[in-house]
Amino acid sequence: MEKFVYCSPTKIVFGRAAEEKTAGLVKENGGTRVFIIYGGQSAVKSGLIGRISSNLAEAGIENQAMGGVVPNPLVSTAREMAKAALAFKADFILGVGGGSVLDTAKAVAHTVASPEHDIWDFWTGTKVEKTTPLGAVLTISAAGSETSNSAVLTNDTIETPTKRGITTELNRPKFAIMNPELTMTLPKYQIGAGAADIFMHTHERYFAAVLGNHLTDEMAEGLFRDIIKYGPVGVKEPDNYEAMSEIMWCGSVSHIGLTGIGAQGDTAREGDWACHQLGMAISAIYDSTHGATLTAVWAAWSRYVMKNNIARFAQFARKVYGINVCDDEIAAEMGIVCTNEFFRSLGMPLSLTELLGHAPSDEEIEALATECTYGKTRKIGSFASLDYDDIAAIYNNCR
Ligand code: NZQ
Ligand code: ZN
Repeated sequence: MEKFVYCSPTKIVFGRAAEEKTAGLVKENGGTRVFIIYGGQSAVKSGLIGRISSNLAEAGIENQAMGGVVPNPLVSTAREMAKAALAFKADFILGVGGGSVLDTAKAVAHTVASPEHDIWDFWTGTKVEKTTPLGAVLTISAAGSETSNSAVLTNDTIETPTKRGITTELNRPKFAIMNPELTMTLPKYQIGAGAADIFMHTHERYFAAVLGNHLTDEMAEGLFRDIIKYGPVGVKEPDNYEAMSEIMWCGSVSHIGLTGIGAQGDTAREGDWACHQLGMAISAIYDSTHGATLTAVWAAWSRYVMKNNIARFAQFARKVYGINVCDDEIAAEMGIVCTNEFFRSLGMPLSLTELLGHAPSDEEIEALATECTYGKTRKIGSFASLDYDDIAAIYNNCR
């Protein structure tokens, strides 16, 4: 095991009625004026925003709520919200929702602390030096943003919209309130897409360039087995508390860094993240649901890169699906088939045609590969380094 540093500072408050602890947690973190950010209508319809606002007010904490975050969240919305949070003189930002809301809340928190910067500065190289304390009330198990050090936004204010992420320890919320009951109103498609994303956050770390650390592998393989068991149950029975709580906890653990701790770098294995980059380009152009973009490209990516380390794919198949075959190539292929069956059981697409509702043309494949490489200026992946031609070939293979 090589040296590493691991820090996950987010306090997790899990279980039924956990949101009743909101005011106490805000106070613990010195918040007196809370700017609440939410999405479309789900959190208002369920009464959650009203309950949280009353919980804060009863504790003497001023608060103001603003909705309007859309899936694949936009920098234009984040800018408006930052303006409103500054006008309110917020000293605490509270995101109530999923990855889209929480990533917007992270952007707002950074901008409130450094109003001299435009949000997109942080997404294009300006270091985030300070931030405003941020809390999360999670309503969908998926992105893992409630504990992660990442945030992803789409810049909709430029000619060709682009979807990009930033990574900084200042992205980590002070606390995450996780009540599985809050996720029971989710549409089945969102539960399925969330479970797929959760699987992929560990998958991207599992298929790293440099491996090692047996415990990390065991934890990752356990997480795969858990989400494979409970993801489809949640899709069928959204009111099944046991399934929804397993999915919720898997979502945080999968993106908190633990399933990537290991052999290289100061904090974690350098993950691969190619499927995420392939998927983000699809979302940038077609506004597709994040988890569904991952399942559409995954098998094509796997078959394209598996020759780089066939033994790793075989280990994945044997440990996760119990495939008892000696030949590595056959085991690896069986693992791909089983994973596609899992994605199918979540109701997720297995090709671009299924995802988009049409077979993309050659021009569309070129546009995707161009967006994915930021205009042919970068490669992606570490398990296998992929350039424009590789990326275009993978998109072509999952057409
Ligand atoms: O807007 P509302 O009305 O709330 O509806 C939302 C939205 O339409 C709905 N929803 C959420 N909770 C609900 C609910 N509907 C009914 N009942 C509830 N309890 O679900 C829809 C999707 O919400 P969204 O926040 O977009 O989902 P998710 O958590 O999957 O987040 C996806 C975003 O996170 C980014 C993705 O790229 C995407 O933009 N990611 C963020 C990461 C991070 N910060 O660490 C890592 C991920 O890899 C991912 O890239
Ligand atoms: Zn993801």
